[in-house]
Amino acid sequence: MSFSDQFLEDLRGRAGLADVVGRRVKPTRKGREHSGLCPFHKEKTPSFTVNEEKGFYHCFGCGEHGSVFDFVMQTEGLTFPEAVEKLAGEAGMEIPQDSPEERERQQQRQTLYDVTEAAARFFQNQLHSPGGRQALDYLKGRGFTDDTIQRFQLGFAPDGRNMMKESLTSAGIDEGRMIAAGLIIQPDDASRDSYDRFRGRVMFPITDTRGRVIAFGGRILGEGEPKYLNSPETSLFHKGRVLYGQQMASGAARKSGTIIVTEGYTDVIALHQAGFENAVAPLGTALTEDQIKILWKIVPEPVLCFDGDAAGQKAAARAAVRALPLLVSGYGLRFALLPDGEDPDSLIRTGGAEAMQAVVRDAMALSEVLWRMETGGRLPKTPEHRAALQKRLKEHALQITDSTLRSHFLSQFNDRLWADAKGRGQGKFAGKSSARDSGWAPSKPLSAPSGGGSTRVGPPDALRLAQQVLLAIIINHPEIFDRVEETLGHFSFTEGPLDQLRQELISVLLKNPDLDSKGVKEMLAQRGFAGHLDGLFRALIRSNRVIRADAPAEKYLPLWDENVALLKSLGTAPEVEKFRRTGGNIISEENEEDWQRQRALLEEALPGHRD
Ligand code: UTP
Ligand code: MN
Repeated sequence: MSFSDQFLEDLRGRAGLADVVGRRVKPTRKGREHSGLCPFHKEKTPSFTVNEEKGFYHCFGCGEHGSVFDFVMQTEGLTFPEAVEKLAGEAGMEIPQDSPEERERQQQRQTLYDVTEAAARFFQNQLHSPGGRQALDYLKGRGFTDDTIQRFQLGFAPDGRNMMKESLTSAGIDEGRMIAAGLIIQPDDASRDSYDRFRGRVMFPITDTRGRVIAFGGRILGEGEPKYLNSPETSLFHKGRVLYGQQMASGAARKSGTIIVTEGYTDVIALHQAGFENAVAPLGTALTEDQIKILWKIVPEPVLCFDGDAAGQKAAARAAVRALPLLVSGYGLRFALLPDGEDPDSLIRTGGAEAMQAVVRDAMALSEVLWRMETGGRLPKTPEHRAALQKRLKEHALQITDSTLRSHFLSQFNDRLWADAKGRGQGKFAGKSSARDSGWAPSKPLSAPSGGGSTRVGPPDALRLAQQVLLAIIINHPEIFDRVEETLGHFSFTEGPLDQLRQELISVLLKNPDLDSKGVKEMLAQRGFAGHLDGLFRALIRSNRVIRADAPAEKYLPLWDENVALLKSLGTAPEVEKFRRTGGNIISEENEEDWQRQRALLEEALPGHRD
């Protein structure tokens, strides 16, 4: 049975996620969120949250996540239709039968695919006919190979009034359907003839997730306005909910863990041709909320590309601000700024795939974009200006509805304001770390300098390193998982990929408590985390941390405790966050001294400061 989107939406609203969850999980309410003990794994402190407004639940311990339908399916072992029926019954809602009208609409949509597909074939044939010579030369001149042109089904709309219409008509397609598919235009004056929408343009078919053509973008040959003409909204095509290239990109994106979002059709194509098969683009508009959600279903941290010029930076900042209310733990965005005036297509042509690779690698965290937008790269000197800056940063952070993330942002901004203001970017934790005397000597200070030209500032390096060490200890010594499950479940790591790995590791070990290290690695790799593992162990080797799987686990327990303490002191544990007076408040001038004192105390309290 199929249910209409409208019906499911109504049911979702009526059933009430919190109510349904509430039958199994005793919730405590915190603002918009409810939290409680997770029904999907064993725990003593609540890490299961419900976001009623967004309509999903999420466990920060084991990573289970879903809608009210998922919850009922999971907890009661039902299929999707069964869960829908059950919830509809409880809510007293009748399940609409497929009405004749609905069936007809469905059928009509079905026949529109035939129209768009036929048009795509027509445009393709035209490109390879004598009349399409100029267009083909144009594409070749841009460096696109025959194979690429074929793969993207590129075509050419000839410059006549009716050429496509006539061709489709002779294939038995009536005008009504061509209009419904957005391919021909009927003038308001009904006595005048309809005519082809696309004329004299290179054609880029837009496909849905199943690879069916649903719309087109058409580029003028050479200069002219508008440069691109796109299909209108039709029953097949809702441009805010489609990404160009998605069908081709999603496999590669899932495999590599990254998806590159660029602005243009030609960028996507050039990226593919240069080996970045994980590239997509919105369709001539800024990225919509729906599109961001689509991206998040593919990878946790899509990379958005922007031109590095002033306008591009502004666009990046706008996108960052717009994304804030959508953020959820474990999901984020990164921002890649290209050299001035370049798009991926031109960058690849001048600098090759390596240049593009470097840009993606250096992509900034969302918080960094906000920080730069507000500071312009430098901290104000006067207290008044600094206070104003604190206020602006705080206002951004408060846009985040996810409470865990919100406090991460707040404390990260805090730390940066504090560190930079004091000129101690090098980090007080560096020199005094116990790492050196316990033989875990880092090759560089634990805490990296902030600012200072590096474009990539996620959480401070010390945080990341501590998180990496914790993960590596469990991955190489899963036998101690039992003892530390609760702790590991309670940290929410600051970087998307690391936190994903944390959640996946917990889920693997909860389901397979007897796995050894090799088994854990294999299972993580099977679940698509090979890249994460590789990155993790490489990063540890680079900073001289070797967690040996063949050494006794006991050897690593002190290291475990030490890093847990470090994370707590740096404020990634929710309990500590709550306790910290700065936890939701940007520090003000007056309490800054206090804050420093507190920080010094925490530092001393760390185990391992026994010099
Ligand atoms: P750009 O102007 O950056 O074009 O627009 P581009 O993709 O680099 O194209 P080339 O390299 O000049 O051929 C980026 C995207 O904005 C939309 C299109 O989706 C385009 O790919 N756009 C642009 C329009 O929809 N209409 C326009 O008139 C211009
Ligand atoms: Mn371009």
